[in-house]
Amino acid sequence: MLRTILLGPPGAGKGTQASRIVEKYGVPHISTGDIFRDNIKRQTELGKKAVEYTNKGELVPDSLTCEIVKARLMQDDCREGFMLDGFPRNTYQAAVLDEFLGEQGLKLTTVLNIRVADEELMSRLTGRRVCSKCGASFHVVNVPPKQEGICDNCGGELIQRPDDTEETVRNRIQVYKDQTQPLEFFYMATDRLSIIDGAVSPEEVFAQIENVLG
Ligand code: AP5
Ligand code: MG
Repeated sequence: MLRTILLGPPGAGKGTQASRIVEKYGVPHISTGDIFRDNIKRQTELGKKAVEYTNKGELVPDSLTCEIVKARLMQDDCREGFMLDGFPRNTYQAAVLDEFLGEQGLKLTTVLNIRVADEELMSRLTGRRVCSKCGASFHVVNVPPKQEGICDNCGGELIQRPDDTEETVRNRIQVYKDQTQPLEFFYMATDRLSIIDGAVSPEEVFAQIENVLG
């Protein structure tokens, strides 16, 4: 059974690898970023609160984020495992997750830490295009769609995320260093961290993940 976290800076390839992991291992993919973007699109109360943070690349408050994740993990499809992408993002969220799982006698099986150098992250994110329908991630140079502006999977229109501007990306990377990177030590200290080199091709990154997950 997989109860996994995908950890890594903005642009590391968490979403890209998540699709492959879902395909092979069949676990639900829980991306807090996707949940916020969906709520922003539908203009829900949560979306209205989250948008002021996501647009600046700041973290949405823990109180909101943790409740959403717990509610999601209570759903039936998570009984057979799950893959969290973008959560936890600070030591408080990590402690909440451990406590929540502990109450049910569960533990994380692995934390996959995808590493990519800073210089590479900026070009990955400013060149990223995402499908407005299914959310699939492409890149104008690295992962081009077969037809420009059109999603390979569902034919949806490819757009740029509002937080993929240079200024916001810079802030997201800084927020990652200040608040999320300390989690590497948190999970390393409890022997749950697997380091994945994210600087190689998506196929090669996935091969490393398969090695860890088996
Ligand atoms: P979130 O959606 O989680 O964004 P992020 O962490 O910044 O990560 P990204 O989705 O930008 O990158 P990714 O690692 O998924 O990369 P991708 O695979 O797309 O969060 C957004 C916002 O929501 C946050 O800023 C915050 O405001 C809020 N939020 C979310 N979770 C929260 C939480 N827990 N607490 C509080 N607030 C929260 O790949 C990137 C690009 O690179 C693509 O173009 C792709 O095609 C390309 N690429 C991928 N792999 C490779 C490769 N191996 N080689 C070359 N190119 C590649
Ligand atoms: Mg993502």
